[in-house]
Amino acid sequence: MAGRIPQSFINDLLQRIDIVDLIDSRVKLTKAGKSWKACCPFHQEKTPSFNVNSERGIYKCFGCGAGGTALTFLMEHDRMEFVEAVEALAAIAHVEVPREGGGRVEKPDTGLYELLDKAAKLYREALRDHPEAIDYLKGRGLDGRTAARYGIGFAPPGWDFLKTRLDVDPDRMVAAGLVARNDAGRTYDRFRHRIMFPIRDSRGRVVAFGGRLLSDAGEGPKYLNSPETPVFHKARELYGLYEARHSAQRGSGLDRLIVVEGYMDVVALSRNGIRNAVATLGTAVGTEHFERLYRNVSEVVCCFDGDRAGRQAAWRALEASLPSLRDGRQCKFVFLPEGEDPDSLVGSEGREHLEDLITASKPAGDYLVDSLSEGLDLTSMDARARLCELAKPFVSRIPRGVLRRLLVDRLARIAELDPDAIDPPSADIDQRRLEEPPPPDPGPAPAARTTGLDRRLLRCLLQEPSLFGKLDTSLVRALLGETDDDSLFLRVARWAAKDGDADASVLLARFVHEPFYNELRDLADTERMLDADALEAEFVGGVRHYLGECERRRRLALVDSIRNAPTKENIARYLNASRAARNRTGGADVETSPEAEGLTAK
Ligand code: UTP
Ligand code: MN
Repeated sequence: MAGRIPQSFINDLLQRIDIVDLIDSRVKLTKAGKSWKACCPFHQEKTPSFNVNSERGIYKCFGCGAGGTALTFLMEHDRMEFVEAVEALAAIAHVEVPREGGGRVEKPDTGLYELLDKAAKLYREALRDHPEAIDYLKGRGLDGRTAARYGIGFAPPGWDFLKTRLDVDPDRMVAAGLVARNDAGRTYDRFRHRIMFPIRDSRGRVVAFGGRLLSDAGEGPKYLNSPETPVFHKARELYGLYEARHSAQRGSGLDRLIVVEGYMDVVALSRNGIRNAVATLGTAVGTEHFERLYRNVSEVVCCFDGDRAGRQAAWRALEASLPSLRDGRQCKFVFLPEGEDPDSLVGSEGREHLEDLITASKPAGDYLVDSLSEGLDLTSMDARARLCELAKPFVSRIPRGVLRRLLVDRLARIAELDPDAIDPPSADIDQRRLEEPPPPDPGPAPAARTTGLDRRLLRCLLQEPSLFGKLDTSLVRALLGETDDDSLFLRVARWAAKDGDADASVLLARFVHEPFYNELRDLADTERMLDADALEAEFVGGVRHYLGECERRRRLALVDSIRNAPTKENIARYLNASRAARNRTGGADVETSPEAEGLTAK
């Protein structure tokens, strides 16, 4: 049986949970100064006296006296058992619950915060001692105040800067993500010869770092981030959020947050007086990020780089934002000129120019309709109906309210349909559920076949649909001539062939209705490891291999058919197929089956 849950784990867990997040998902909270308020869920009242304090991680009702932590809240409000509540919190924090004696025993990681804080301090001190790092930052237009505001530091070259200065167990350093361990078990500083950006959580504690090479010729990737650790979850943190809130407290309140792609964009904007920018940490903006953003402001503006990757990131952000778009919340998009990022643009054009772009940004609804309309000829009724079909699954992810209604009305006007046909009111649906017999169970969705090769090709194509244009015509013809409808790759390839130079996001949007949509999106989201040339080589080579596989499968099927029924027709079909394959490949690559060759008709 599982042992006791260590108290140290629970303490640490409570540190990591954002209590405002937790309670807000059950009781709508509104901001009131430094804390959050609502009418108390534990007693009847008309004016809110239930308070939640994010920094201290507690709630308290001044009316009925209820109060406690995230753990007590789940027990009192959701009526969970203690262990159940701990497990629910652990799931939110993406950690496993350790048990004392037996099972997994985890070292308590309290103290990771102090360790990270000490590292940040050492990096800041090192910055002062290294003119080359200061010159780099100056060269990028930063000043001392901005560097101080973000606590920017420097990890000197060498393998043991931190190791020799922080006298702690190497395992703890590894747990904090500061030190890595090689295959031989030796530990070494993860960050070397890099400008260091400390990442702070909502309470201002350093939880991770991003490090940038001083020169693009340096060792390793341009930016290196801390790995996931017990205190750092990439999918949730936002670089610059703490700093943005902090400066807003002193000046005017925060009414809008700007999401950019990079650390440098955040600090460059701040340097230029735009102090409300945040960035994700080398990951796409996800729903968790949006929930966090909207807890602070009602307007989020996504301002990504003016390149293909930036446009793709924008589309991904749009999708992720939809479930958060309750009434009163806005999500908007700025599209920068090709080749620019917020950092370069604020440098060349200045603050006002960027602020104008932000003011003129495109609302999510417009962006959605415009993107889905791309490549459709809206003068045709068919295309307009198709637009509605494409839009439906997106619309249904927006919470019911004004925004959703406006969008539906707009689509209805375009397609000349009744709005209710696009988005039936929920009452209707409930009513229908009551009146109609339940629909027959459709059974499992027809599974599309995806092999490792399929996935590799899909990943290439979804990341760069223009790759399709790199195939020579004979390959295109062979590919489109294949009729294997179970192949996911073939289905996507047919669209890529039709859509010409569609953006990856548009290509992906064609499949929103399909059961395999999530699989495709995950593939599109996987980190891109190859440069353009290597990606092309991988794709073209992969397509050849794919066609070879199709060929092989066909011949094996024919061999089977001969085995089952060695008729003249079957043998002739087999020999024809072999000959055709040999002709296509100039004789190479095709093995005929001696077994089949030697067969004669009965
Ligand atoms: P960019 O390459 O757009 O960086 O990556 P940038 O902000 O314009 O950087 P500078 O101007 O060259 O300094 C944007 C973000 O993507 C992540 C980082 O979070 C970075 O800030 N990234 C980028 C990585 O994690 N690793 C990399 O190698 C590159
Ligand atoms: Mn940049």
